[in-house]
Amino acid sequence: MILPSLTSITLLALTGILAQAKPTSNLRTWDEAYAKAEQVVSKMSIEQKVGLTTGMGWGITNCVGNTYASEDPDFPSLCLQDGPLGTRYASNATAGVSGINAAATFDRNLMYKRAEVIGKESRGKGVHIQLGPSVDMLRAPNGGRGWEGFGEDPYLQGVAGAEFVKGVQDQNLVATAKHYVLNNQETNRTTSNSDVDDRTLREIYVWPYARMVEAGIGSVMCSYNYYEDVHICENDYMLNTVLKKELSFRGFVMSDWGATHSTAPSANGGLDMTMPGDINYGDGLSYFGPNLTKAVENGEVTEERLTDMATRIAAAHFKVGQDKDYPETTLRSFDRQNEPEVIVTSDDHINFVREIGAASLILLTNDGILPLSSKDFGKIAIVGSDAAPPSVECTDLACNDGTYVQGWGSGTVDFPYIISPTEGITNRAGDSVKVVHTYDDWDTEAAAELASDADIAFVFAKTEAGEEYLMVDGNNDRKNLTLWNNGDNLIQAVADANENTVVVIHSVGPVLMPWIAHKNIKAVVWPGLPGQETGNSLADVLFGDVNPSGRLPYTIAKKEEDYGAHISAEYNIEYGEKLNVGYRHFDANDIEPLFAFGYGLSYSTFDYGKLKVNTKRGKRDTLATATVFVRNTGDVDGAEVAQAYISFPESAGEPPKVLRGFERVYLKAGQQRKVNFEFTETDLSIYDEESSCWVVPEGEYTVSIGASSRDIRESATFEL
Ligand code: BGC
Repeated sequence: MILPSLTSITLLALTGILAQAKPTSNLRTWDEAYAKAEQVVSKMSIEQKVGLTTGMGWGITNCVGNTYASEDPDFPSLCLQDGPLGTRYASNATAGVSGINAAATFDRNLMYKRAEVIGKESRGKGVHIQLGPSVDMLRAPNGGRGWEGFGEDPYLQGVAGAEFVKGVQDQNLVATAKHYVLNNQETNRTTSNSDVDDRTLREIYVWPYARMVEAGIGSVMCSYNYYEDVHICENDYMLNTVLKKELSFRGFVMSDWGATHSTAPSANGGLDMTMPGDINYGDGLSYFGPNLTKAVENGEVTEERLTDMATRIAAAHFKVGQDKDYPETTLRSFDRQNEPEVIVTSDDHINFVREIGAASLILLTNDGILPLSSKDFGKIAIVGSDAAPPSVECTDLACNDGTYVQGWGSGTVDFPYIISPTEGITNRAGDSVKVVHTYDDWDTEAAAELASDADIAFVFAKTEAGEEYLMVDGNNDRKNLTLWNNGDNLIQAVADANENTVVVIHSVGPVLMPWIAHKNIKAVVWPGLPGQETGNSLADVLFGDVNPSGRLPYTIAKKEEDYGAHISAEYNIEYGEKLNVGYRHFDANDIEPLFAFGYGLSYSTFDYGKLKVNTKRGKRDTLATATVFVRNTGDVDGAEVAQAYISFPESAGEPPKVLRGFERVYLKAGQQRKVNFEFTETDLSIYDEESSCWVVPEGEYTVSIGASSRDIRESATFEL
């Protein structure tokens, strides 16, 4: 991989062809989009309609998926490209923060802006359909693709998913929510059956999709796994009943790559598009294509259904306004040498990545050593390969080299460069500070020696994970929650040698921290997967240019057995924890986590007070509102994330409390602000299995407001 410096990137931006990334911002309502789609599709032959529903095959088109174009009536070949983090297989694009970091900001504006940047860049490359967001729940803490999505809570996934949809679709791309549904581990992802009850299905796993449908999402990707022994991509119940009928989803369903297994059962089961088209990659055959034409001709699939499939696809395209001034596709996913130079990255995008990288950093412990002042430190030691720039190129980032900024798989973006942690810290520390390093994770003696005479020692460690089709050291789901590359021993050795040790962990998810009580570990910093500006984002927080405000989108437990769900190697994956996913399990079973969901420190302190709850019917379908005053009681400006948890009436059978609101508020030192929460009918409903309806249980509700799921500062009750 070529790693040019920031300066050469900036120069390129000045001399190259700058992409026209301007949106046409002519989004249509579904009704308007359907009217346009029906006009076009009604003029199409069976073959033309089939063309819209069929991918041209893997590895031979410009994008990871392309549909067949139609002539007279004209309809373009749609370019489908990953992913949830940015534009995959693209040059001169930005490699930003992962989904899990977007979640850690707990900030709707930043979530939207991130998606807007992704949308602008993909649009600039002529992508029509963005293969993101991912809202796969981090059900087991070591799930391989959890980092692509937004953590362990459905409400957070729903908010972040909806912001992604708005941000991307406002740039005229169709967003794709994936992987629908119950695709929460990589182990046996194509051969396992997800076994869940109806209520849990809706309250946890379908919930984020419902919020994205409300936000107008154009497409949904069905997943590889089975439900009730039927592949999801031909599962009438999941696609037709739940997604299209219950959620009133009017866009189209595409298969995950290779997740189609039949012709008529799939089309009739609710699948609208098969991707990448071939039955087995490269075989030139398809379950759709001529096979679908035949199925329509012999009556196995009605022409009405085929028309519905094509109309849904065309409607999504028209809804986001791709019929006007849309850039031509310049990606060459499988022929990168011949990719025309189109620069979609920009200084604004790069600055934004740096900003959201810092905003998503979670400060786990700090005895006051942070923020650093260069004045106090003459010599800094940096230990661990996770602080180093990566030096090798590898397919979809499946390698274990240097600092970690994304997981691996289809959800990755080639990084144009990486500001390594060492570079970020060295630049920010300035010339008066001596920075020394060792990147050898295995030579703990050398690490200890280097650390021993420094004023402060940073020790870096990481974990990795990614998608099933690749493996690193036997992992895709992580095999365990232990740090990689001798991390625990390295941390122990450095902490033994230096009484001002700061631990920095780049991780795809929770890890075990056997060294957490070491007296010399003065801070633990958790930057997640921050993308190409990682070193700068980190330095911004370490040196106090940014006050940390990131919050954990998952629970970090004291031991692996404490979690409520684990990766299963069985065919039948029982979702036995039911509604008690993530922190709900810890609450329900009174287990003390090491670091709770929603937790994160600041350089300041915040007080909460004067909580007021009101059940007067408000705007739209709001059933209750809460207001609370949050005050910055420290002497540093910064943001606080106020979180609202609801406890339902006993009779509802809900977990002890569930997240139903959050607000990230920026407060100057001493400043106080009123924070408002609105709880809608949806927020206060449960899925009643007997009536198959969402109902608002009657009785006493508690609203608990605080700085994490285990740091509740104010609570009040109300009756409904
Ligand atoms: C992944 C999808 C991805 C697709 C296309 C599949 O392996 O599961 O998330 O969008 O490939 O790259």
